Amino acid sequence: MHKNPIRVALLGAGERGRHVINYWLRFVHCEVVAVVDPSPAALDKAKQFFGDKAAKAEFTSDLTSWLARADADVVTINSWDNHHAQNAIDCLEAGLNIQVAKPMCQSIEEADRLVAAWRRSGRIGIVDMQIRTCPLIQEAKRLIDEGAVGKVRLVTCLDSVGMGACFYRASRYRRKDQVRSLTLAKGVHFLDICNLFMGDDPVRVFASGGLDHFGGDKPDDLKCRACDERGTCPENGDKALIGGMPFPFPDSLCVFARETNVYDNAIATIDYKGGGRCSYVECQFTPEYQTTYEVIGDRGAIFVRYAMDERLFLEYRPRDSARVERANFYPQGVAHGGGEKSMSLLIEDAIRNNRQVHPDILDGRNAVALCEAIDRSVETRIPVDIPPPPPAEPSAGRGSRERSARAPSAAVGPPSRGAPGMRRA
Ligand SMILES: NC(=O)c1ccc[n+]([C@@H]2O[C@H](COP(=O)([O-])OP(=O)(O)OC[C@H]3O[C@@H](n4cnc5c(N)ncnc54)[C@H](O)[C@@H]3O)[C@@H](O)[C@H]2O)c1
Repeated sequence: MHKNPIRVALLGAGERGRHVINYWLRFVHCEVVAVVDPSPAALDKAKQFFGDKAAKAEFTSDLTSWLARADADVVTINSWDNHHAQNAIDCLEAGLNIQVAKPMCQSIEEADRLVAAWRRSGRIGIVDMQIRTCPLIQEAKRLIDEGAVGKVRLVTCLDSVGMGACFYRASRYRRKDQVRSLTLAKGVHFLDICNLFMGDDPVRVFASGGLDHFGGDKPDDLKCRACDERGTCPENGDKALIGGMPFPFPDSLCVFARETNVYDNAIATIDYKGGGRCSYVECQFTPEYQTTYEVIGDRGAIFVRYAMDERLFLEYRPRDSARVERANFYPQGVAHGGGEKSMSLLIEDAIRNNRQVHPDILDGRNAVALCEAIDRSVETRIPVDIPPPPPAEPSAGRGSRERSARAPSAAVGPPSRGAPGMRRA
């Protein structure tokens, strides 16, 4: 390898941050130059986790002084959800390229501030919505862009979060003040892909949802192991199943705790600027852990099954024949359908060639905007309009790098070579 290693810094060294750096080290020629986290315990854990792989890195809990002298090709931001926006703005203002965890912020207002900071900075800004970069989703997008289904009119998305119970076992994810909603904390990946498949910006949402299974009147600190009802409780963490397979949570908090206030199911109808429509159904208490899409155009349809297992596939059905073409995708142990690898390579390409790639900050904004609109519609029971992204300043340096708000979303990664037929991964 003749190229210089990419110098990567980690901001927020918790579970996800450690894994993101691990993917970088596995797939990209890089070196870790800094690990920054306000928690000394998190820094110690990261030091142990990386060992020799981060031998030259600075470990610091002082974000402000690190930012003043930061020297890295890219910072991967993996703090808590409600800190991402400010961390991202601070890094951009310090002249750093960023990869920011999903959801990139908590509201449209924050998203628009981040979009403005990104445009001002001229830096590369990528949102770690890596599922849209996996080979399955890229292939579906390639077929759509090549006109296989004609003009996309409808997208349906059934987001079956069989692992949903785990969020209700952890206090942070079950509280609105921490994550706003699980639509924003988790569904954001799949709503981003709705936007990608539709190739358009969402403008209006009507949604209905509720907290119908989890939550209740149990103490917030009650653990399954200390509970008198664990012998009969269907949600006993030790006996949890996902897709019928044992998936125990040894130290589980009670899913029926009083503080739980994020909704556990919702149905949303989404209107897009160009007239397309999408239906999104999210459920946190289904047996399955998978997300399926049906993308329907005026010339055909594509069914897509994404899941955390190794059985990812899509089926293309043209309207003018009984033909069904199926492609299977085998992520071969790389998480998120292989998206962790493609995301790492995508950022490497962006940094080495100094070019912005998708999912960019505007993609992140439109995904967050959709989630906020769903949340507000669930709360108010009325349709909610999504304001357009702020227009780019004519003088902003980024202009040429950024897609216009009207243009369809570009596919991720290098342009397709345009080979006909479907690709298998
Ligand atoms: N893309 C994905 O598939 C995926 C998967 C899991 C988690 N995530 C995202 O990663 C983020 C982190 O999740 P996690 O599970 O690692 O949480 P975590 O609690 O394990 O780690 C978060 C870390 O951020 C640190 N932190 C808190 N405030 C900070 C600040 N202001 N600046 C810097 N660091 C700060 C905390 O001390 C902690 O060490 C979340 O936003 C989550 O949504 C993404």
